[in-house]
Amino acid sequence: MKKTFQMAYSMAGSGRPLLLIHGYPLSRALWKAQVEALKELCTVITPDLRGHGESEAIPGPYSMDMLADDCAHLLDDLQLQQPVIVGGLSMGGYVAMAFCRRYPERVAGLLLTATRAGADSPEGRANRERAMQLAQESGAEAIADSMLPKMFAPGTYAQRLDLIAFLRRMMSQTSVEGIIGALAAMKDRPDSLPGLTDFSKPALIIHGAEDQLIPPQDAQAMHTTLPQSQFMLLPSAGHLPNLEQTEPYNAAVRHFIQRLP
Ligand code: MLT
Repeated sequence: MKKTFQMAYSMAGSGRPLLLIHGYPLSRALWKAQVEALKELCTVITPDLRGHGESEAIPGPYSMDMLADDCAHLLDDLQLQQPVIVGGLSMGGYVAMAFCRRYPERVAGLLLTATRAGADSPEGRANRERAMQLAQESGAEAIADSMLPKMFAPGTYAQRLDLIAFLRRMMSQTSVEGIIGALAAMKDRPDSLPGLTDFSKPALIIHGAEDQLIPPQDAQAMHTTLPQSQFMLLPSAGHLPNLEQTEPYNAAVRHFIQRLP
């Protein structure tokens, strides 16, 4: 089914297409520094997922397949039929893996940042339910307050007040529909790990050594499973390595893209 909502996106640069999918409860503003750094090399497409950023706040529940289909429909609308490099951060990585599963012929390479392939544990699912209730009762700002301290490495959280304010703003602007829809999608997402065994394209995995939301072992498990992957563990970075260690992050992505067949 075609998307039936207004999806906001940005597109910059020229060259092979790179699709960057933000995490939860964020928006395409997450990728500003990557767009600037990579637009010389690629056409960088950054969507706002449904219910997030400037995209329409349609009610859920969402699913990872649905969010991946939204991205595919956006590429169709942009008439980008050639294979794209698909990148995602955290929940964006779950969407990227769903995209690879559903549209393998449309993928030239995979960039997985601060994410994991496994499904939620029973405890994780119960936490999603609690977060849904919090969002319903108290709104996006309460969700931002509950998440912010864990989003960054402790050093970043102590020193980078600019980044904390930037993220708080981004999170607070997410619609309650988007938050609840995304929580449902994450709660019920399938285990993507077995499918990675058959993924034949190059992949780059980048993870913060101090990620408090997704432990580095989960990224290591994807590296072990993917047939053609590189793994970079970034020191002094938490759940947002592209913001916390922008230069080394961008350099690693540029290097990966330049060496793609
Ligand atoms: C995200 O950063 O996208 C989410 O925190 C991921 C998750 O909760 O599993």
